[in-house]
Amino acid sequence: MVGLRRGYSGLVERSYIPLDMRAVSGILPLGGTIVSTSSFDPFREPDGVEKVKATVREDGFDAIVAIGGEHTMSITRRLWEEHQVPVIGVPKTIDNDVPGTDYTFGFDTAVQIASDAIDRLHTTAQSHDRVMVIEVMGRNTGWIAVFSGIAGGADAILIPELELTVEEVCDAINTRHDRGKDFSIVVVAEGAELAFASGEKRQVRASSETDNYGYPRLGGIGVALASEIEGRTGFETRVTTLGYVQRGGTPTATDRILATRYGVKAAELAEEGRFGEMTALHGHEMTSVPLGEVQGLKRVDLDYLRLAATFFG
Ligand code: F6P
Repeated sequence: MVGLRRGYSGLVERSYIPLDMRAVSGILPLGGTIVSTSSFDPFREPDGVEKVKATVREDGFDAIVAIGGEHTMSITRRLWEEHQVPVIGVPKTIDNDVPGTDYTFGFDTAVQIASDAIDRLHTTAQSHDRVMVIEVMGRNTGWIAVFSGIAGGADAILIPELELTVEEVCDAINTRHDRGKDFSIVVVAEGAELAFASGEKRQVRASSETDNYGYPRLGGIGVALASEIEGRTGFETRVTTLGYVQRGGTPTATDRILATRYGVKAAELAEEGRFGEMTALHGHEMTSVPLGEVQGLKRVDLDYLRLAATFFG
């Protein structure tokens, strides 16, 4: 058993580290990865796929377990479907946007960190009569925003899946003030669009660059939204952008248990030669789905947003 350094680039560059019992001892409470990661995509590199196939053949790999988000799963699916590389997927991302499974590991930890942050921000919001805007990650889905917003008692939640205009957010804040609540907590997902009643909308980006996968670098909607809220309501508004804090530190017990179950399931799939599948959590059951079914993004179930909205205003 070896760990591929920096994801799929480890296969192309033949950069491995031994993963014996000694190497993995003590890693359960650690965040991140001991083998490093990257957004290397063999399909976007010259001869990338050919090099992957050559390594698998020449170095005698029986199975490749790819751990990652929806883009990693799409590379893994193509390696299986188009090139019959013996792969198994394991869904891991804070975004929880991988189809075919209820939860990815990493998500629960990010939600816990964001919920803790909202709890802490409540203190200043309440004592200083402020509107607090909290920007969370999640790329093009709003799972972290909705879950941490419900857990933290947010007064408005903006996500990419459902448009909420600046005017609607301001109305909700004004209604709260009219009812004697002098502070508000607004959670916004980095991928939500800044939308106006006029129909104008825009996605706010951290920079014009894209990453290696070609995705835009999101970030900044919190600042833009806060300035709109302050300008329109006159209430003092502050922003906190949680950023990479959500991706680090000690994983929750729920994530450790989920990752452990996924790992054991992946080993079983490899032993049974069931390639082209991804480990999956369905309810409480640890199972697997064909990678062919893992395509696109798993969007937020809007029932969660409706639940949160019961407590807005
Ligand atoms: O996909 C996980 C994630 O943390 C997203 O929530 C975020 O938009 C993105 O990665 C940030 O990527 P990078 O580390 O390349 O800035």
